[in-house]
Amino acid sequence: MIKKIVLASNNPGKVREIGQLLADLDIEVVPQSEFGIPEIEETGLTFVENAILKARNAAELSNLPALADDSGIEVDALMGAPGIYSARFAGVGASDAQNLEKLLGDLQTSESKTRTARFQCLMVLMTHATDPTPLICQGTWEGEIIDSPKGDNGFGYDPIFYIADEQCTSAQLPAEKKNVLSHRGKALNCLLEKLSNL
Ligand code: IMP
Repeated sequence: MIKKIVLASNNPGKVREIGQLLADLDIEVVPQSEFGIPEIEETGLTFVENAILKARNAAELSNLPALADDSGIEVDALMGAPGIYSARFAGVGASDAQNLEKLLGDLQTSESKTRTARFQCLMVLMTHATDPTPLICQGTWEGEIIDSPKGDNGFGYDPIFYIADEQCTSAQLPAEKKNVLSHRGKALNCLLEKLSNL
C-alpha cells in the first residue's frame, strides 16, 4: 500500500490542484521541490513520454513512488498547437501571460475562424524509477478560446478557455468546480480508481 508519493512538478498551479484532488486520501503527497529536485528537460514528443520522464526522474531522486502530470492545450485553428509545448510556447522560461498572449496573437493572424480547443492531461504513477508498468491515465476537457482573458482563478491558459456549459472561462470557476470538470481531475480520478483496484 502506497503511503507517501512525490509529486513530479514545480508548477505551483498544478501542485495546488493535485494537492486539492488528493486531499482526502490517506497518502502523503510531497512536491519534488522539497527534495530539491529540479524540473527535467521534456524531450519527449508526446504527453505520455514527458510524464514518464518526469515521474522516473522524481522516483529516482527521491526513492519514493512518483506521480507526474504532463498537460497542455490543443487549439484546432493552430493545428493542435501549442500541445506539448504549452508551457514554453512563447519561449523557454516564458510566463503564463506571455504564452497566453502568443496564443491570442497566433489566432488573430490565423485564417481559421474555428475557436475550439481542449486541455489534455496525462497522469502517470510509477512505484519506482524502473517500474516497467506505470499506471497511465488521460483526461480531456473541451472548450473554446475567447479573445480577451476573463477571471483570476487557475493558471496558464484558464482565462481564455471558455466552457459553454458553465458560460464562463475556467479561470472564473471556483477551484472545486474546476477540479471536478478538468482534464486533470478526470485523469487523476481514473488513476485513483486503477490504484484502488490493485
Ligand atoms: P507541462 O508542465 O509541460 O505539463 O506544461 C503544462 C502547461 O500547459 C502549463 O504551463 C499551462 O500553460 C498549460 N496547462 C495545463 N493544464 C492547465 C490548466 O488546467 N489550466 C491552464 N493551463 C494549463
